[in-house]
Parts: sequence; C-alpha cells; structure tokens
Amino acid sequence: MVQLTLPKNSQVNRNGKTYKADKGGETIRTFKVYRYDPDAPENPRVDAYDVDVADVSMVLDGLIKIKNETDSTLAFRRSCREGVCGSCAMNINGANTLACTKGMDELGDGDITIYPLPHQPVVKDLVTDLSNFYKQHAYIQPYLQAKSPEPATEWRQSQDDRAQLDGLYECILCASCSTSCPSYWWNGDKNGDSDQEYLGPAALLQAYRWLADSRDEHTNERLDKLEDEFKLYRCHTIMNCTQVCPKGLNPAEAIASIKRMMVNRPDDKADPKKIAAE
Ligand code: SF4
Ligand code: FES
Repeated sequence: MVQLTLPKNSQVNRNGKTYKADKGGETIRTFKVYRYDPDAPENPRVDAYDVDVADVSMVLDGLIKIKNETDSTLAFRRSCREGVCGSCAMNINGANTLACTKGMDELGDGDITIYPLPHQPVVKDLVTDLSNFYKQHAYIQPYLQAKSPEPATEWRQSQDDRAQLDGLYECILCASCSTSCPSYWWNGDKNGDSDQEYLGPAALLQAYRWLADSRDEHTNERLDKLEDEFKLYRCHTIMNCTQVCPKGLNPAEAIASIKRMMVNRPDDKADPKKIAAE
C-alpha cells in the first residue's frame, strides 16, 4: 500500500503567484493552475491567471494562451488538439479529462482549477511521469498473438467478430481512467512488481481488447498473466474509470468481462473465449 502521510515538500501552497488581467470584463476567467518546479526548493503552488476567454473555446486553448501571452514557464503536454493522442489529459475542476476536448462552456461559472493527473509522479507543472502506466500496458502484451500458421495475405475476421472490438479499440491511453481510480492509487504503485500490482482500468481494457479478438489465440496465456490477487481483482467496480473516460468507453465493463472469462474458464483450459460467448 502507498504511504498515506505526504512528505512535507509535497504539500501545495494554494496562494501562489497571481497574474491579473489588464482590464476587467465579463470575458475574464481565472485559471488556477498547479505549478511544480523540480529544480526549485519551494513546495508546489497554485498560480492564478486571469484570462480573457472571448476567443477561447477549449480549456487547452486557455492554457496555450497563458503560455503564449502571460507565463512561458508553464509546462503541459499536448499534441493533436483533437482528442486523439491522449497527451493533454489532466484534472480539470476535479475530474480527469482531455483539455483539448473540454469546452469552456462545459465548466459553468467560477474559477477553473487545473491539476496534473492524480497519484502520478509530477515531472513539472501539469506533466506527469507515466512510465509505470506504460509498463503496465506493455505487460498485457497489446498485440495479436496467434498459433495458427500465418495466412498468405491477412488474418480475416467476420463483421460480427470485428464488432466485438467496438468500445475497446478506441482507447487512446490518456490515463484519465486509471489515475481516477482509488484502487489504482493504492495498489498501482509497485512500479513493475507484477505480483502485487493492480494494472488499472486502462491496461485491463486493453487486455480485454485482445481477449475479445477472434484472431488472437493466446487467450489462456493472457488469462494466466492476470490471475492473481492484484492485477485484475483489485478492481472493486468503483466506476470512476467509466465516469471520466473522455472517449466514452467503459473500462469497468471490460474488467467485468475478464472476470467472467476467468470464472467460466474450464479446468482443462479449453477455449474459454467460446464459453464466454455463449
Ligand atoms: S479507457 Fe478512456 S480514459 Fe482510459 S486510457 Fe482509454 S481513452 Fe483514456
Ligand atoms: S492534445 Fe491530443 S488528446 Fe488532447
């Protein structure tokens, strides 16, 4: 389990620097943004930026405006600005989401608070270290594994079998789901100690994406890799993952499907995929 008393230098000073707008007006909104500089001796702080949002439609646009016009030291990740790359995931007004697809009009009135994804090591400001998250994704072996001889042209799939992957393949690995899960906070920190680590909703949704793939023939091996007290069964169906997923996916349902496959697994380990489909 993680240490529950925070080290002193991790406590956040909520009254950081304030950047006032030159003039007031109805289109001024205050962005309260978590700041942390690993090279500075100070604790993390929350800076307040007044931003004229008249031409700002998405939260990411507001952050880019701050960086371009007010404070170039602010660090955050972004790339596609289209909800495709997953790199701009952060905690906005208390919920993990993508800054590039979060509309200003969805936030209501009042200040906008922006923190990095919870319970991940912070590299700087809103940039977190997702090394362990990616290691967990690699653990589930996210690629097709077959035993049949390789076909001359392609691995074919019926339309119905292909439809089984809908709601799974769309994941962009933004980490919003896993980092919103209390069980992941408590049990997802073993940094590769795979015997005592909950893999979290994102890795498990991807695990099910390959378990559900009619072309993959490593079903038993994949289930073996998930069968211990931690990797799968530390999911307690809290459902934060499904609530926050900015792509509208349902990791909790995928995890429940894996548990069902596990329970229905025959003793002789004969094709559990078929049995789950019945
Ligand atoms: S399931 Fe949704 S929230 Fe989780 S990593 Fe994939 S896209 Fe992001
Ligand atoms: S910038 Fe790519 S998902 Fe937001």
